[in-house]
Amino acid sequence: MEPMEATTIPTDTFKVGFIGAGKMAESIARGLVQSGVLPPHRILTAVHSNPSRGTAFESFGVKLLPHSIAVVEDSDVVILSVKPQVVKDVVLQLKPKFSKKKLLVSVIAGVKMKDLQEWAGHTRFIRVMPNTPSAVGEAATVMSMGGSATEEDGELIAKLFGAVGKVWRADEKLFDAIGGLSGSGPAYIFLAIEALADGGVAAGLPRELALGLVSQTVLGAASMVVKTGKHPGQLKDDVASPGGTTIAGIQELEKGGFRGILMNAVVAAAKRSKELSPS
Ligand SMILES: NC(=O)c1ccc[n+]([C@@H]2O[C@H](COP(=O)([O-])OP(=O)(O)OC[C@H]3O[C@@H](n4cnc5c(N)ncnc54)[C@H](OP(=O)(O)O)[C@@H]3O)[C@@H](O)[C@H]2O)c1
Repeated sequence: MEPMEATTIPTDTFKVGFIGAGKMAESIARGLVQSGVLPPHRILTAVHSNPSRGTAFESFGVKLLPHSIAVVEDSDVVILSVKPQVVKDVVLQLKPKFSKKKLLVSVIAGVKMKDLQEWAGHTRFIRVMPNTPSAVGEAATVMSMGGSATEEDGELIAKLFGAVGKVWRADEKLFDAIGGLSGSGPAYIFLAIEALADGGVAAGLPRELALGLVSQTVLGAASMVVKTGKHPGQLKDDVASPGGTTIAGIQELEKGGFRGILMNAVVAAAKRSKELSPS
């Protein structure tokens, strides 16, 4: 496929259209509106079969159009946010409307850029992998640029997804590993939070207090890694005094192979991601 000649997207007036008015689209759209990155009248979507999805978008001012075709026609940036099973049919149906003025973005897990570009007949594409904390403005998002996407396109999409968290760029070949880490990672941490709260209950704490303490502890520890820039091993050493309580707890974690288990979890999820979307 020939690279396409890109026309600059008008930064002050461009519109973003979501194809697939689901949970991920809603969390991105809400983030865009709440952060002031985009007013709601510049966000478009259409209901597929479930009217309550439309109500969710209308509740923060997003305009609903009668059909995805109208969404593509009226948008400068089209974000594909349907489930992987239906994306091919959806893209083939919308293909005639993908003029080269439009930037296409996919947040669909496990669907490769080369397939998306082929189905769409369009190489001005950016593949983005956000994760579920986008719903609370704390996504870890990675984006990869397609053949004809320009540097300005990349900056625009980084700004849009910056409204729901942090954004990195990476080669698409790393997306399976990224899925195994930041894609599945929230679930690993939910498990850890639940288990630590159980530990608190086992040690005599009321459930609600235990859950509150552990959630804030995870938030605080992550924030220390990000804000101090210190290596997590250093931060661990800083709180583990000789013969103290913390090192006694750490010793138990190490006996159970804590670090090896976490490493294996990421590698297993990355492997599974590769198996589910073979090249
Ligand atoms: N949730 C996450 O954290 C996350 C993270 C990374 C990537 N993703 C990706 O984001 C995508 C959406 O996930 P989600 O969690 O938002 O799923 P979801 O809530 O099920 O959203 C999918 C939406 O697509 C709509 N839809 C189905 N067929 C359609 C069609 N032919 N034309 C237009 N719209 C159609 C559905 O509408 P109806 O319900 O009305 O049929 C639904 O509202 C997935 O591909 C997933 O891989 C999600």
